[in-house]
Amino acid sequence: MRHFIDLCDWSSSDLREILDLALSLKAEWRNGGNQPLFHGKALGMIFQKPSLRTRVSFEMAMQHLGGHALYIGPDEIGLGKRESIADISRVMSGYVQFVMARVFAHAHVVELAKWSSIPVINGLSDASHPCQAMADILTIREHFGTTDGLKVAFVGDGNNVASSLMQGAAHFGMEYVIASPPGYEFSEDVVDMAANIRPSFKITMMRDPIEAVRNADVIYTDTWVSMGQEAETAKRVEAFKGYQVNDELLTYASSNAIVMHCLPAHRGQEITDAVADGAHSAVFPQAENRLHAQKAILVTLASS
Ligand code: CP
Ligand code: NVA
Repeated sequence: MRHFIDLCDWSSSDLREILDLALSLKAEWRNGGNQPLFHGKALGMIFQKPSLRTRVSFEMAMQHLGGHALYIGPDEIGLGKRESIADISRVMSGYVQFVMARVFAHAHVVELAKWSSIPVINGLSDASHPCQAMADILTIREHFGTTDGLKVAFVGDGNNVASSLMQGAAHFGMEYVIASPPGYEFSEDVVDMAANIRPSFKITMMRDPIEAVRNADVIYTDTWVSMGQEAETAKRVEAFKGYQVNDELLTYASSNAIVMHCLPAHRGQEITDAVADGAHSAVFPQAENRLHAQKAILVTLASS
């Protein structure tokens, strides 16, 4: 039995197989529907934060596969407050076949997994968002036909999404560059986790977004203010001025570059309307791919 907490916990070949499976489940779905592999099975979804994509894509993934998903909102079980995480985890293990958790502290999803006798999936923590990264890489692979040798440039905060994408880049043969203002770059241990995935992995941290996107195949950005950081909004908006993905920045990238964003977007801050809705944007196929990538993650965990 395995959990899906971080991409660095998995081998590159396992993750490639998950993406192969995602592509076949996507084709199967488009050709009339998936097999009811999860008949009589359920996914418990614990949310300590809001969600559109993660909640709806997991719920529909279970439904398409003949199973059921149960939404447990922030005010319901009081993770670690009303009851200990260890007790919640052991109780949930008796009711459902998978747990997906969106938490503030990464240690909380790790603790859930520690006590669980069923697979636990990280649906975003303050440190990582591995399901997002799998959908992102699926989107890149579909668009370019391969991931090997591509350059991914992340513009903005060295946050959960940026970190999981970096691990994905390491697994899937891509180069990764991130441009962040002082104080918002990756810490050394976060870089080391990705670097340990592939000895030849090339990761560069810099300040200048123009340098970062030069000849990039993929330009990625995310909010400047992640969930839980709302009190820092004014300071962050000031710090990230100059880190907007806009038409001018795109002129420095490869002419075939795609622009990605995990969403929700703060249009007019980290990305302009013109780019998010423009010819290079991959944001909506990327959002749809959450569904297909997560089906493959669930099916893989069910047999691991
Ligand atoms: N990208 C993503 O995880 O979106 P939600 O926060 O809406 O789930
Ligand atoms: N970095 C963002 C991603 C949202 C999907 C956050 O953690 O709020």
